[in-house]
Amino acid sequence: MIEETKVLTSRIHKKDSHTLESYREDGGYEAAAMALAMDPDEVTAIVKDSGLRGRGGAGFPTGLKWTFLPKDRDFTYLCVNADESEPGTFKDRVILDLDPHLMIEGTVISCHALKSEHAFIYIRGEFCRPYRRLVAAVQEAYEAGILGDNVLGTGRKLDITIHKGAGAYICGEETALLNSIEGLRGQPRIKPPFPTNHGLFGRSTVINNVETLANVPVILKEGAEVYRSRGTEKSPGTRLFSVSGHVERPGVYELEHGVSFKDMLNDICGGVKGGRALKAVVPGGSSVPVLTAEESMKLQMDFESCQECGTMLGSAGVIVMDETTDMVWALDKLTHFYAHESCGQCTPCREGTGWVAELVHLINQGRAKSADFDKLIDLGTQICGNTICVFSDAVFMPVMSYTTKFRSEFESKLIDSAPVHEKVGA
Ligand SMILES: Cc1cc2nc3c(=O)[nH]c(=O)nc-3n(C[C@H](O)[C@H](O)[C@H](O)COP(=O)(O)O)c2cc1C
Ligand code: SF4
Repeated sequence: MIEETKVLTSRIHKKDSHTLESYREDGGYEAAAMALAMDPDEVTAIVKDSGLRGRGGAGFPTGLKWTFLPKDRDFTYLCVNADESEPGTFKDRVILDLDPHLMIEGTVISCHALKSEHAFIYIRGEFCRPYRRLVAAVQEAYEAGILGDNVLGTGRKLDITIHKGAGAYICGEETALLNSIEGLRGQPRIKPPFPTNHGLFGRSTVINNVETLANVPVILKEGAEVYRSRGTEKSPGTRLFSVSGHVERPGVYELEHGVSFKDMLNDICGGVKGGRALKAVVPGGSSVPVLTAEESMKLQMDFESCQECGTMLGSAGVIVMDETTDMVWALDKLTHFYAHESCGQCTPCREGTGWVAELVHLINQGRAKSADFDKLIDLGTQICGNTICVFSDAVFMPVMSYTTKFRSEFESKLIDSAPVHEKVGA
């Protein structure tokens, strides 16, 4: 029987865990004081040695990303990505709501490593209480001399500006986030140039996820070696898994990378709801390929194992679907969401996501023919990789995996419902 490994979430059940007083009682900001006494490059080296990988989706090594900043830069920004809009992902809000100082301490340490004097926190507009608590925590930090012109008495400067999003999923994409802060339309930028060279207001910028930064004080406090003792060699540390769907106990659970999905499902989440059979699992947020029950029962929850299984760990938003789930209905809901959230810059994405949503909807309503199904698959292959950002891939990975792995469900809803491959060959 496995249990949670509470590292980032060790304090969240305490009374007033979101306050500075409570955070300090548990040794809060000691790691920041330690880091500020070090050379910035030394701090970066520790984070690099820890093997910390980004928790926002791509799993890019954090320390390595920091080293991409040009040496001769004049000014650096850190942007904290607290937009958390991926369906099935709801773990950053737990930190923002219940332990915001953990993330602020991570920001203080990271800004020191990056030689940055200004961080922006871009928070999802719909996060009401987390926003209020974050604002209060930043205010507390200013009043306590943790932020401002004399950070923890070191003479260093650090300001934090909180920026509230206005409800667009695409603003979680890092360059759309930068545009949004600048007051421009929240649309992704063409890369290169990459934000480390030309980011916010044209300055060198690092963008990191909330959970990524919440790991930084832990790494500084316990050292890279102890940090690496949890998880797997290539996916070190713990992970906040957001588990939703047909499980007895949905929620946010902190487990070591590499935990088996089966143990997570049965020991942590109480099994499939009502004792029903498992049908499908999305392991990393709605944009990653779906797995069948058989595939998921062999899965380990780390970056490499997910990749080997043909999917991605992404943002670790685990959506569990039982035998009663209509997979065509599920994809209908998903494609409707994505068609609504395309920023509209690229024609293949703007038009394609709309067509895809319409075709899936037609199939779900039993009003499509096998030729429509073929068109759906064809669209997927044409749109992927031909756009400014990877949003279009995030739409078509689910489309391709749902229609391939649960093909018979789609076929059974077609007006001319003989197997599609027979018709294609006819
Ligand atoms: C369409 C799209 C939406 C995204 N949404 C988020 C988000 O809500 N939160 C987040 O942290 N990263 C999101 N990302 C990933 C960010 O672009 C970026 O890679 C991440 O914030 C980097 O932080 P990390 O290296 O700490 O993971 C999104 C990416 C794409 C393409
Ligand atoms: S792929 Fe879609 S979301 Fe991304 S920039 Fe192009 S239109 Fe916008």
